[in-house]
Amino acid sequence: MSKLEVDLSGRVAVVSGGSSGMGAAVVARLAASGAGVVVGGRDEARARAVVDSAVAAGGRAVPVIGNITESATADLLVASALEEFGRVDIVVSAAGVVHRADAIGTDDEQWRHVMAVNVDGPFFLSRAAIPALRDSGGGSIVNISSTCGLVGASGLAAYCASKGAVSNLTRAMALDHAAEGIRINAVCPGAVETPMLATGHPSGRTIDDVRASNLASIPEGRIPDASEVADLVLFLASDSSRHLTGVNLSIDGGYTAQ
Ligand SMILES: NC(=O)c1ccc[n+]([C@@H]2O[C@H](COP(=O)([O-])OP(=O)(O)OC[C@H]3O[C@@H](n4cnc5c(N)ncnc54)[C@H](O)[C@@H]3O)[C@@H](O)[C@H]2O)c1
Repeated sequence: MSKLEVDLSGRVAVVSGGSSGMGAAVVARLAASGAGVVVGGRDEARARAVVDSAVAAGGRAVPVIGNITESATADLLVASALEEFGRVDIVVSAAGVVHRADAIGTDDEQWRHVMAVNVDGPFFLSRAAIPALRDSGGGSIVNISSTCGLVGASGLAAYCASKGAVSNLTRAMALDHAAEGIRINAVCPGAVETPMLATGHPSGRTIDDVRASNLASIPEGRIPDASEVADLVLFLASDSSRHLTGVNLSIDGGYTAQ
C-alpha cells in the first residue's frame, strides 16, 4: 500500500500514548518523515521498543514515561522535547481508554478514569505545548477523538462523553490559537485494528464477534489498521494541511455518513 510522503525534517513532535496502537503507528511515520519524536507511554519496555524501532529505521526518538492524567506528565513531555530536540512543532494526543457500558454500568471511578485519560490528557498536553508551539512560530496539534465524539454509540456512555468533549475542545482551542499559526484538529476513527478493539468486552464476546458487528455497520465493509489513521495524522501535522484548523475529520469507511 502506498504511504503519504511528507518532509518533517527539523520538526519536533510529542506523542502521548505512543507505545501502542495508533500512537505507535504515528511515531513510526513521524520519525520516518524526519521529525524528532518524544514518545509518551506508561510502560517503559513498550515505549522503548517503539523508540528502538524508530531509531533502527534511521529516525530520532526518545521515550518519556508517565501518566497523562497528571499535568506534570504533560509538562515533562514538552520539557523533554525542548531539552532533547530544542523545539516543539507537532503534538499528538493518542492516549486513550475505553469503558464499554451504559451509564448504569459505569461507576464513579470508571467515569472519572475515562474522562481523566481522554479529556484531561489532551487538555493538559495542549496547554503545556502551546507556549512552545508559539516559540516555534506555530505548529499543529492533533487529537485522536473517535466517531463516538461525533455521534452516540450504545454501551459506551462515558467514552462517548469523553470523545465529544475532546472534539469540541479541539474546535474551541483552534479558535483561540488560529491567529498564532497553531492549528488544532482531531481525527475521528471508527473501529481500528489495535489492542483497544479487543479490550473490555463482556465475557463470552470474542474478537470475531466484535469484528463482525463492527463490519456490519461500516459501509466500506472493512476495519483499517493503525497505519491508515497515522497517514491522516501525518497530513494534519504537515504543512499540506496549512489552512485546516478546528476540524474533526472522520476516518470510518462511511460510518458517520449514514
Ligand atoms: N481502536 C479503536 O477502534 C479506536 C477507535 C476510535 C478511536 N480510538 C482512540 O484512538 C486512540 C488510540 O487508541 P488505540 O486504539 O491505539 O489503543 P491502544 O490501547 O493500543 O493505545 C492507547 C494508548 O493509550 C495509553 N494510555 C492509556 N491510559 C494512559 C494514561 N493514563 N497515561 C498515559 N498513557 C495512557 C496506553 O498505554 C496506550 O499506549 C485512543 O484515544 C482511542 O480512544 C480507538
